[in-house]
Amino acid sequence: MKICIIGTGYVGLVTGTCFAEVGHDVVCVDNDPAKVKILRSGGMPIYEPGLAEMVKRNVDASRLRFTESTPEGVQHGDVIFIAVPTPPHADGSVDLSFIEKVAREIAGCLTQHKVVVDKSTVPVKTGDKVVETIKRYSKGKVEFDVVSNPEFLREGFAIEDFLKPDRIVIGVRSERAVAVMRELYKPIPAPLIVTDINSAELIKHAANSFLALKISYINAVSAICEASGANVIEVANGIGMDARIGRRFLDAGLGYGGSCFPKDLSAFIKISEQLGYDFRLLREVQRINSDQMDRFLKKIIETLWVAKDKTLGVLGLAFKQNTDDVRQSPAIDLCQRLLEEGARLRVYDPQAMGKARAVLKDRVVYVDSMDDVAIGCDALVIATEWPEFKKLNLARAKEVMTHPILFDGRNLLDPAELQRLGFVYKSIGR
Ligand code: UGA
Repeated sequence: MKICIIGTGYVGLVTGTCFAEVGHDVVCVDNDPAKVKILRSGGMPIYEPGLAEMVKRNVDASRLRFTESTPEGVQHGDVIFIAVPTPPHADGSVDLSFIEKVAREIAGCLTQHKVVVDKSTVPVKTGDKVVETIKRYSKGKVEFDVVSNPEFLREGFAIEDFLKPDRIVIGVRSERAVAVMRELYKPIPAPLIVTDINSAELIKHAANSFLALKISYINAVSAICEASGANVIEVANGIGMDARIGRRFLDAGLGYGGSCFPKDLSAFIKISEQLGYDFRLLREVQRINSDQMDRFLKKIIETLWVAKDKTLGVLGLAFKQNTDDVRQSPAIDLCQRLLEEGARLRVYDPQAMGKARAVLKDRVVYVDSMDDVAIGCDALVIATEWPEFKKLNLARAKEVMTHPILFDGRNLLDPAELQRLGFVYKSIGR
């Protein structure tokens, strides 16, 4: 099928590339000339495992190309995906101006029936607005369908999540659109749920909020574990084996971050408020999330007594493993807070050094290798759950550190091993 994807961020680029991979003919549009230039020259604007190779393969096979021109993309696609950012306003509500602009642009280029699919995360009832806008700006001349098709991929696992999803959600108004969407997703083996547009939009905010709630739940339990001497990992394993609960997203840590959960929770609370419901539960989820960072910071400061002028090594800057994304990263937040305390920081991340540099500037020392971070440090801090941090050379770290103290914000290391090596070791909920 001929597809156009408008917006080549994480979601748009992965969606376009994966649709090309399963055999569709895809044109990706982005209004940022620099990004289009990078993609056309075989480069990658983001780090996502496996994506660069997949883009190259599909570009070489002429199933995938990139353009700055929305009219060119719209003309090409029978199905047009909107995958542009929906950033937050200061009050937590969603800025839908990019969606509105794209809807107008699509309307201006319509010459025959198209299915316009919203993949961006949007508040319930946005689909109605998109329909209204396209009608208004196309002057009602051409037939079209609007579909809501929320995306559930995680950064760092995006290709796998896209090609092997738990489910595909399609919110529609017409049978014609259902048929097109079924055909489009035929190569992807997953249950397809067909709903009305409002429900599909709501599924996305409700799903992300529930996952954030799950993380806050285990983080709250971790506080009780610390106070009682229990072990949060044992508790998570014990409750997670109940199939009704499930073990995934029960890893206690520094709280959730990233470009989705914090924004989507605020949005869902705001949407609920506008619809007359006070979603107190979700406000508590947010509070637990910020408490979690406060508790960890307190642990560091209490152990060091004074953080001022101490040298701390921070392992991990990305908001989670397998990504170079530092947006709303708990690791960056922790760095900022330690800097405010007057600490000196040596930092390392396997992928996110470039993006972190843009935020932390020259206020920290960037170290090229994981094992060299420890040199001259009063303490080490693990802030992101990169699996390679489990292979840290601890014996060497102990030799090159001023004091063998390690704060593990992601429960990556084994407390018994650290104790055997003579470290003061503090982690989360155990
Ligand atoms: C999240 C959702 O998981 C995706 O389903 C959704 O499509 C995406 O948002 C989106 O709306 O676009 P993502 O933000 O990429 O995906 O990352 P997650 O893997 O969900 O992690 C989010 C945060 O939660 C990270 O900071 C991570 O470290 C933290 N986390 C995750 C925990 O602290 N504990 C866990 O057990 C799991």
